[in-house]
Amino acid sequence: MCENSEIRKLFPAIAENNGIIYFDNAASTQKPEIVLQKVAEYNRSGHANIHRGAYHWSVEATATYEMTRRKTAEFINAESPEQIVFTRGTTESINLIASSYGRSQIKEGDRIVVSLLEHHSNFVPWQQLALEKKAYLDFLNIDPAGNLIESEWDRVITPGVKLVAITMMSNVLGITTPIDKIIEKAHAVGAVVVVDAAQAIQHQKIDVRALDADFLAFSAHKCFGLTGTGVLYGKKELLESMPPYQFGGDMIEYVTKEKTTFAPLPEKFEAGTANIDGVIALSAAIDFIEEIGWGKIREIEQDLTGYAIQKMKMTDHVIIYGNPASMYEKGPVISFNIEGVHPHDVSSILDNVGIAVRSGHHCAQPLMKELAIQSAVRASFSIYNTKAEIDYFAEKLKEVRRWLGYGS
Ligand code: ALA
Repeated sequence: MCENSEIRKLFPAIAENNGIIYFDNAASTQKPEIVLQKVAEYNRSGHANIHRGAYHWSVEATATYEMTRRKTAEFINAESPEQIVFTRGTTESINLIASSYGRSQIKEGDRIVVSLLEHHSNFVPWQQLALEKKAYLDFLNIDPAGNLIESEWDRVITPGVKLVAITMMSNVLGITTPIDKIIEKAHAVGAVVVVDAAQAIQHQKIDVRALDADFLAFSAHKCFGLTGTGVLYGKKELLESMPPYQFGGDMIEYVTKEKTTFAPLPEKFEAGTANIDGVIALSAAIDFIEEIGWGKIREIEQDLTGYAIQKMKMTDHVIIYGNPASMYEKGPVISFNIEGVHPHDVSSILDNVGIAVRSGHHCAQPLMKELAIQSAVRASFSIYNTKAEIDYFAEKLKEVRRWLGYGS
């Protein structure tokens, strides 16, 4: 399809802000014009609430919303649209599973397993559930390069484990996990697997059926959509067995003074007015990704990542975390520090020269502890970034220590 310079033109924030280099794509991606247009068109041509009106605008909005559910199901190869629940984001999707499935299924003495690569959103809900239920929380450890230690799995994933929560790609190290093997192991002991696809969703085709994932969560804003929109996929029998997560409008069947019966899937989990704008944007974002194609996305991102690692390795005093050698297992996310410089200072200095990177603990404090650091700087790339931007970034990295008075 189009070359990278053509792709840049599709993103107004990139095309119209030539001086800014946006390397914080793991936090949130920019939005292509087609996404912005779709949302504006919908609001200009007549916005209405969904599922509640017999008039034209409402019927149209409902049809578009439900069409997106079908499109999202196809996007991740779910069996049916009922298995797609729209939420506010990955965090809400995972909290929904923890509150509904977790509270109803996890019992005292059960074991829950999480990896030490997890973002807090796939860590804290399970830790809190374990505390509430007097269940045990066990960990899939990592080696110093950030890879999961597979040889320990037979000791950790054993009968008694009821749930395994695991990311497909670390938001700090960009490392992808051998998710299929973990799911197979977890299923062999009767555990369900919650897959956090928040990072993976913008980089690779996800096939929930091929993975045999029990639950999978992602956010639209990390794959060119809007903030405040998330997806929860679940196996039908699991979702059907789960109690509602929130109560209110749109999720009920009948309400009397004495009791309430609930709507079938997926409305049972979608109380209140939906994020219609966000779902319409997701529809356009999926079209956009499919138009570019996963092959092209991967090619651009792998090229940029390899190039950046090579440049950064040539820069004195830069420490890269994770295993940059395993290119096929690494997405376009590079966390690093500069010796003697606080990550926030690195980020501020880079900001002064027009480069946006994230610094901090990246909502992954257990991982930071494993890496024996408090915080790091993170550069993460998307399809609109270029090697020229990486060249400039690498040049500026060399200057950071000089800015702070070091000789080199
Ligand atoms: N989860 C997002 C990140 O890693 C916000 O930056």
